[in-house]
Amino acid sequence: MGIESSCDDTSAAILKNEAILSNITANQEIHAEWGGVVPELASRAHQQNIVPVVDAAIKKAGIQKEDIDSVAFTNGPGLMGSLLVGVSFAKAFSLAMDIPIIEVNHMQAHILAHFIEDNEKNKPNFPFLCLTVSGGHTQLVMVRDYLDMEVIGSTKDDAAGEAFDKTAKLLGLPYPGGPLIDKLAREGNPTAFTFTKPKVDGFDFSFSGLKTNVLQFLEREKRKNPNFISENLTDICASIQHTIVAILEEKLVAAARHFNCRELAIAGGVSANSGVRNMLLSLEKKKKMKVHIPRFEYCTDNAAMIAITGRYHYLNKDFASQAITPNARMKI
Ligand code: KG4
Ligand code: ZN
Repeated sequence: MGIESSCDDTSAAILKNEAILSNITANQEIHAEWGGVVPELASRAHQQNIVPVVDAAIKKAGIQKEDIDSVAFTNGPGLMGSLLVGVSFAKAFSLAMDIPIIEVNHMQAHILAHFIEDNEKNKPNFPFLCLTVSGGHTQLVMVRDYLDMEVIGSTKDDAAGEAFDKTAKLLGLPYPGGPLIDKLAREGNPTAFTFTKPKVDGFDFSFSGLKTNVLQFLEREKRKNPNFISENLTDICASIQHTIVAILEEKLVAAARHFNCRELAIAGGVSANSGVRNMLLSLEKKKKMKVHIPRFEYCTDNAAMIAITGRYHYLNKDFASQAITPNARMKI
């Protein structure tokens, strides 16, 4: 069984070998009215959700709780209070059922979602380069083996998901704005407006400048036309998305060239974005790369990815002790 509770989704999944038997996620709607995730509300909602979510995952898998032979849980990175709920539940379940617990790194798990049996027939071959883009992280990772990964670039400030969510907020869209920008962008012209791309050395990223750039642009245009946003919403969304995707593409291509790696993957919540997915497909066409795009349900936070990562630790008999505590800043 896999348990995920690092941010605002409570999720449990049952895995048999590399196949997912169930993957149940409770989203927390409470945060939308605050315009972002409120950590204290998140941990309370996890406490309410965890038992019914686990129960539903076991029932959907068609098994008994006695059939489970280990519990993998997200130990970090994430929000401390949220992590605590999942870790405490995993420990209690392991004590009650007398089975081992397995510590999982959330960022590794996003990447290893590519190895779930039903995810795709054609799994990545090692080594491959993965662009992991979520609400909390933006990383370029060289994946040498299931549990042998190296971060070769990361964001210096905001994550790619934050760039979507924060610019969406400037447009008056509700949280989380990423999926809404994606939806509206489909109807707009991606080159209607130009936003500046940051200059960052190496394979690192920066997104906070884009937010300021969009803010200043909107203020300027609104002085000329108070209805500017509503009259141009789809074009603004398409142009923002175009810029974020271009920033990601530039670094991904540069790293692939530098490491002479022709096998690429994307992972994390922002890999659900149509612009990011199309960018990868275009690299396959233009540059003859082999690309891997996760199924939608394995892009945003889910316990299936925790369970598959747990499996590789399980095969190494890499179990955690009952003394383990969450690590909010856990590194790959
Ligand atoms: O991986 P994830 O579920 O949670 C974290 O670990 O952070 O990622 C959530 C992020 C949010 O910022 C959300 O706006 C973004 O992923 N996201 C998207 C899309 N779907 C989710 N951003 C752009 N387009 C999407 N379709
Ligand atoms: Zn995540």
